[in-house]
Amino acid sequence: MRHLMSPMDFSVEELDKLLSLANDIEHHPEKYAHACDGKKLATCFYEPSTRTRLSFEAAMLNLGGSILGFSSADSSSAAKGESVSDTIRVISCYADICAMRHPKEGAPLVASQKSTIPVINAGDGGHQHPTQTLTDLLTIHSLKGHLGDLTIGLCGDLKFGRTVHSLIHALIRYPNIRFVLISPEELRVPSYIREEVLTQHNIPYQEVERLEDAMADLDILYMTRVQKERFFNEEDYVRMKDFYILDKAKMALAKEDMLVLHPLPRVNEISVEVDDDPRAAYFKQAQYGVYVRMALILTLLEVEVC
Ligand code: CP
Repeated sequence: MRHLMSPMDFSVEELDKLLSLANDIEHHPEKYAHACDGKKLATCFYEPSTRTRLSFEAAMLNLGGSILGFSSADSSSAAKGESVSDTIRVISCYADICAMRHPKEGAPLVASQKSTIPVINAGDGGHQHPTQTLTDLLTIHSLKGHLGDLTIGLCGDLKFGRTVHSLIHALIRYPNIRFVLISPEELRVPSYIREEVLTQHNIPYQEVERLEDAMADLDILYMTRVQKERFFNEEDYVRMKDFYILDKAKMALAKEDMLVLHPLPRVNEISVEVDDDPRAAYFKQAQYGVYVRMALILTLLEVEVC
């Protein structure tokens, strides 16, 4: 039995296979409509979510399966003090696979150690968000045609943004990847990622504060929101929240085929005037999230569709 805690849990070959499967699902959804008949997905979300929870649920429903779960800690027995370990032992009696989001880093890993069903980390604190990364990889591969030979700008809250941490881990395994890390000093990528991931793997990167200084070089611009829920005080959040606003004027500095991605939700960091730009791919990205989660459910449940 396999779980998914980090994008590194899959080898590059396994990721290629998963992305091909997602691609086939996109183009031949009817082939997969009954692949999970009789199977149940539990979504255990201790933190708010729109895309991740609902795209997991849509994915299982598209595969013919059923869904159950909770969407906040308050509506589960966590509010009465139940541990994640006990909860997953019980969920294992009710469902075939579980997607779990939790504000504490490592909570889905603890759950996986007590579980008798596959557990998927659907976001743990500021740590990792592997299924967002699978979504990002599928989006880049589908729209660019390749995952190597890219200059990727990561912009915004690079300190608390778990999607950024997972994406860096995943992309360094592809050839000729270069990062431009665009953030204010207070929201820089954590030093362990700079030192143990980028430097140790000889991945070229530069850090800049002004988005305008990076735009012309980028193949992908990955925008992120400032993670209000991870700040210790409101004052710091208010000071940082509008540090970057991508607008038409900044888009004019970019290559004609640069893609703008964002894991969403967006707050103010991308002006709505950018939404109609053909390079804005963030809503397509949310759609790719359903295909890749369908592929992930099939893979972890070891369901083969001929
Ligand atoms: N991208 C993402 O994780 O969105 P949600 O928080 O809405 O799930």
